[in-house]
Amino acid sequence: MPADRTGPQRTGTSVARHSAARTVVVWDALRDVLAADRSASVVDIGGGTGGFAVRVAELGHRVTVIDPSPDALAILARRAEESGVADLVSARQGDLDSLLDLVPPGSADVLLCHGVLEIVDDSATALHTLAQVLRPGGVLSLLVNQRHAAVVARAMAGHFVQARALLDGPGDGAPRRFTAEEVTALLSGAGFDTTALHGVRVFVDLVPSSLVELEPGSAGALLELEKAVATRPEYLPLATQLHALATRR
Ligand SMILES: C[S@@+](CC[C@H](N)C(=O)[O-])C[C@H]1O[C@@H](n2cnc3c(N)ncnc32)[C@H](O)[C@@H]1O
Repeated sequence: MPADRTGPQRTGTSVARHSAARTVVVWDALRDVLAADRSASVVDIGGGTGGFAVRVAELGHRVTVIDPSPDALAILARRAEESGVADLVSARQGDLDSLLDLVPPGSADVLLCHGVLEIVDDSATALHTLAQVLRPGGVLSLLVNQRHAAVVARAMAGHFVQARALLDGPGDGAPRRFTAEEVTALLSGAGFDTTALHGVRVFVDLVPSSLVELEPGSAGALLELEKAVATRPEYLPLATQLHALATRR
């Protein structure tokens, strides 16, 4: 992973600014998708503590979060309560294998799968399962780690052996990282049409946070830069993550 320069000296505001720069591209894309529907049925598989789910519910949509971690779901419930959207958020303990037991097939308008595909055994099978949860025409928001940026980050940190090993894919049992071509091929094979592909965290993980914090206006400018490069194909290999929007055929 690129260097995370989070240190004890960082303030809550600066952490929030960095977090905004990390998520702005995904959130903007998702908000546009959700704007098409006043009250969508949204499923967030591996939604964890609800960083996205609660924001989606704040827009008036019904969100079912499925996650194997009871601790994460407890935090999600508290967050939803504090944000006044507990009635719109339901938390179900489960995982990708039990997804179709927890959510009726063809019932979701929008499905979030952020940071999960890299930790399941078989990403192609997982995407086939996700396709069954969505109604035809429903939209998948998929966020995965990107391989090329991870190679560069390891090399820049002096971990040349690790960088070399990552070049051709992960070792046994290691989290997967995907290229843009792999993501679109996997989506197509599972019955999705990719409608947008975004590079996420192209610069934010590379820039020391002190640089962003000391210069007035830097945080906002970095955010705008992340948004500007997100859809430029030449920057995709530099992005820590790839975000795809894909429609179920
Ligand atoms: C990297 S976190 C991502 C959390 C959240 N989606 C986000 O973007 O902030 C991965 C999440 O996937 C969950 N998870 C792990 N294995 C899973 C599986 N087999 N199926 C579904 N979720 C899983 C974890 O409990 C964790 O909450």
